[in-house]
Amino acid sequence: MAGGENFDMVIFGGVGDLATRKLLPALYYLNRDGHFLSHSRVIACGRSGLAREAFQAHAEQACRRYVRAADLDDSALQSFLQRLDYVRVDAAEKSHFEALAETLNRQDPDRTRVYFLATRPDLFASLCENMSAAGLNTAASRVVLEKPLGTDLASANEINCRVGAVFAEEQIFRIDHYLGKETVQNLMALRFGNALFEPLWRRTNISDVQITVAEQVGVEGRADYYDSTGAMRDMVQNHLLQLLCMFAMEPPCSNEANAVRDEKLKVLRALKPLVGQAALSHTVRGQYRAGAINGQAVPGYLDEDGVATDSSTETYALIKAHVDTWRWAGVPFYLRSGKRLAERRAEIVVNFRPVPLNIFSKDMGSLPVNRMVIRLHPDEGVRLNVLAKQPGPAMRLKPVSLHLDFASTFKVRPLDAYERLLTEVIRGNLTLFMRNDELEAAWRWVDPIIAAWQDSGEPPRSYNAGSWGPSSAVSLLARDGMVWHEEVEDAR
Ligand code: BG6
Repeated sequence: MAGGENFDMVIFGGVGDLATRKLLPALYYLNRDGHFLSHSRVIACGRSGLAREAFQAHAEQACRRYVRAADLDDSALQSFLQRLDYVRVDAAEKSHFEALAETLNRQDPDRTRVYFLATRPDLFASLCENMSAAGLNTAASRVVLEKPLGTDLASANEINCRVGAVFAEEQIFRIDHYLGKETVQNLMALRFGNALFEPLWRRTNISDVQITVAEQVGVEGRADYYDSTGAMRDMVQNHLLQLLCMFAMEPPCSNEANAVRDEKLKVLRALKPLVGQAALSHTVRGQYRAGAINGQAVPGYLDEDGVATDSSTETYALIKAHVDTWRWAGVPFYLRSGKRLAERRAEIVVNFRPVPLNIFSKDMGSLPVNRMVIRLHPDEGVRLNVLAKQPGPAMRLKPVSLHLDFASTFKVRPLDAYERLLTEVIRGNLTLFMRNDELEAAWRWVDPIIAAWQDSGEPPRSYNAGSWGPSSAVSLLARDGMVWHEEVEDAR
């Protein structure tokens, strides 16, 4: 994008949590690294009447707090702050949009405009409608919608429909920040840049796939949002399903947005529905009780500030999913995510099938299987476990790992997910964003699972903060003769 065109980025929810922690720091980096032409602007909007200087002071604090100290350069910071402006906008107040139009029109009105809606989703539709009424939807405008995009299929459809009445689908960028992560990009490179893996990437060679996004943090002051959301809507419906799509999709015919999104959609549509009893037997939902994280005592979910004392919101969700296609029929995909787990770890673990016959030693039984671990956190990279002969007189086999560590291999600072995604929005490339039909398909699969949980009247299973989740998560795999990756690691 360096050397591109001048653009205006408008952030609704400009002093909110997302803007402060992620967007402003990401924009600082983009400016520092030469991606802004001299007249590009960032205009934050919010309900409070902040003066420009007060917003600049807020942005400065955000950068000082969330940009790595080594990357914070005073002149780059000053140059970034000079680009910032603030306009008071209440989503319901039409005259505020006219004031915003006036600010925007002070520069070339035909330049690229990005409207980033970092607000509550119930404001998306009215923001877009009021923008349109004030003539803000120019031909070169794009709108970015942050998750959660609705709370179920009906509310997502309403957002899609009302936003879609104002902006064309090609102008709508639905963010799932997991698609901006370096390793997720690398999954595309690994699968479609190498001839090696494609023949193995199917049911005949793969026994099961485990997709884990484990967090150590709890609700972090977001109980207001989280207690009415839960792990299924917060993480599985979007991030985990997108990881599943990137892993399981057929090779697209190009890297172009719709080619990739068509293939992802097919995966979502091929998910075997989980309804009623099937939903209950294929899932585990949990809620953490008090425990310890890294040796520090932490409270249980029900004792977190802002959480209802009788809340049955799940802080952990595990789903055994099936993608009913020729490639994947019969292969379980275990998707799990939880808060206050033993480690912060996000990974896709691929277990390959065993060799047909162990020729080495009759006493050894079956040989350990090959395993590929595609790691998003903490150490981004790909590890492939293979068996090798242990040096010595006996023919002893031992698992060893071939390891591609992105940080030490490429020695460059990886882009933060938001840096990448903002760059792609400015470029107008939709490949890393969800299309409306993907969003619908994801909710269509998730809704009946949540309904089955609610109808069952059963509370979530408890687990200790600092553990790997409820014990039934282990038994669900054991019933299939499988074990979680961390159990295999612990056994070594
Ligand atoms: C967000 C969720 O989408 O993703 C949070 O709302 C979660 O609850 C976060 O903590 C995890 O993102 P990351 O990039 O830190 O793994």
